[in-house]
Amino acid sequence: MDFVKLSEQRFTAKKFDVNKKIPRDDVEKLKTILQLSPSSVNSQPWVFLWGTSDNSKKRVRPAIADFNWNRIDTCSDFVVIAVRKGLDDKFQHTLLDQEIKDGRIANEEIAKECFESRKFFIDLRERSGQTLNWETKQAYIAMTALLYGAASLGIDSTPIEGFDENKMDKLLNLDNYGVHSVLVVTLGYDAEDDHNRTRPKSRLEQSKIFFDLDKFPG
Ligand SMILES: Cc1cc2nc3c(=O)[nH]c(=O)nc-3n(C[C@H](O)[C@H](O)[C@H](O)COP(=O)(O)O)c2cc1C
Repeated sequence: MDFVKLSEQRFTAKKFDVNKKIPRDDVEKLKTILQLSPSSVNSQPWVFLWGTSDNSKKRVRPAIADFNWNRIDTCSDFVVIAVRKGLDDKFQHTLLDQEIKDGRIANEEIAKECFESRKFFIDLRERSGQTLNWETKQAYIAMTALLYGAASLGIDSTPIEGFDENKMDKLLNLDNYGVHSVLVVTLGYDAEDDHNRTRPKSRLEQSKIFFDLDKFPG
């Protein structure tokens, strides 16, 4: 589908049809979309915790704000997006090894350059105490890819910031894995009585958000 049409049609689902499950091959496609998400210096600072069973929903529900319970209770699948608490040398080598394996790096000299340039960006954030913030920005890119990717497959979604990150970390023992939850996305097929389905989109007029730099006084 044309991406403009997709942008017009995609909306935040507030309630899903409990009887409709996402086919597993579409789930695999959604995972591929997340895996292929771009990130600064290909840092891929994320892990995705996938849930679909009632049990997995029960595990995360106490961390979800009550106004979002409807989404988690009725969705087919959901994903908790978490980021690493820091990207140490070991992880940076894991990234490099993967790039070598995938044939992106021609020789050892280029490998060294790649490692050093990525390290430069990572250290820059580390020194200014911005690592988690920077990684979270990457997570939002992945989330956006997921929302539009899902829509392209006819799957509805809800991006969710309305949850307690620290509580989620505790519920899933994320500390043990050195990661911190930053987002939840619920996925499925919108319920017929979801009021959001028929609500018109509302966005600021383009005249309020776009400025022609040739005329912009600055
Ligand atoms: C990062 C982010 C977090 C959001 N968190 C929630 C949430 O916790 N619960 C919810 O119902 N909607 C949430 N939304 C949905 C927004 O309210 C919605 O995207 C916005 O009103 C525009 O509507 P649309 O997505 O239908 O075009 C979130 C959206 C984004 C992008």
